[in-house]
Amino acid sequence: MKVLGIETSCDETSVAVVENGKTVLANVIASSLDIHKQYGGIVPEIATRHHVEVILPVLEEAIKTSQTSLSEIDLISVTQGPGLIGSLMIGIIFAKSLSFALKKPIIAVDHILSHLYAACLSNNNIEFPSLGLVVSGGHTSLFLLNSFTDFKVIGKTRDDALGEAYDKVAKILNLGFPGGPVIERKANSAKNKELHFTAPSVKSGYDFSYSGLKTAVLYYTRKLEILDKTKTDEICYAFQEAALTTLLKQVKKTVLDYGINRMIVGGGVIANKNLRRKLSDSGLNIYLPEMKYCSDNAGMVAGLGYELYNKKLGTKINFEPYSTFEEKWEKT
Ligand code: KG4
Ligand code: ZN
Repeated sequence: MKVLGIETSCDETSVAVVENGKTVLANVIASSLDIHKQYGGIVPEIATRHHVEVILPVLEEAIKTSQTSLSEIDLISVTQGPGLIGSLMIGIIFAKSLSFALKKPIIAVDHILSHLYAACLSNNNIEFPSLGLVVSGGHTSLFLLNSFTDFKVIGKTRDDALGEAYDKVAKILNLGFPGGPVIERKANSAKNKELHFTAPSVKSGYDFSYSGLKTAVLYYTRKLEILDKTKTDEICYAFQEAALTTLLKQVKKTVLDYGINRMIVGGGVIANKNLRRKLSDSGLNIYLPEMKYCSDNAGMVAGLGYELYNKKLGTKINFEPYSTFEEKWEKT
């Protein structure tokens, strides 16, 4: 079964063709990130207009790369949320139009769960129940998954997501946007490693909190007379160590308490090599997505769409986007 995936939740416009939920025939991504960089963050209006501009060429390239014709597509899978409403709308309207014109079924999938599915694209041996961890620009969430349709959130951030903390610290240090890759690079070149920050651990439960760590970096930086390259590298190293140590501590606690030594991880921050190493060396069974499937892409959307469709979870065509995970899954 060939699934066409469409992802437009933020600044990436992506279209993929994935066969049977595993074989990625094409995964084309066009990002408007370079335009947003000058504003120090994502500008929703610009992201939306960029999706409109590139979505058709991105589809054409995906079809060409996959050596598939549109008539061979069996299912269309699209991100419904969470994300920027204007951006999501473009992908959803595009997907609905294709579904209507090609007379093919459509399925709406969740962006956060699709980040977890990304690990399944390259791991064949994932067993359930499993724990799940999504670390992205908007989420730091822990899941207990019996499957991709039967899950519960067991922990989440009480303030900033980890990716958001990276982005805010980069702003404090004048390193531009997004913060993750540049902080990782600078942390790697740090010569002095004596500086120490603490990310407060949330004592009970499995939640996270990163805003205190960001504030500690802010206060420390304000007191400095000179912020040169050496000092910036040192701060980046200390911030990253504190942030990742707390993350790992919470991961280990969850595994221990739930007695499930399996965790699927995903999201943009999982592209951090330091974090990947710490997770791989943790002694836990961690299922990592390949680097190319960590940040937003339609391969994971097509994959999750296949999985849900096979569980007979079709979608009626009149669905709408949603902006937060809670809005969709935690409504009573
Ligand atoms: O999953 P993603 O592409 O988009 C969302 O769904 O949010 O994640 C983007 C986030 C940004 O905050 C970015 O700074 C962070 O992922 N990120 C990283 C790295 N690469 C991207 N954080 C730490 N280290 C990295 N190498
Ligand atoms: Zn994402």
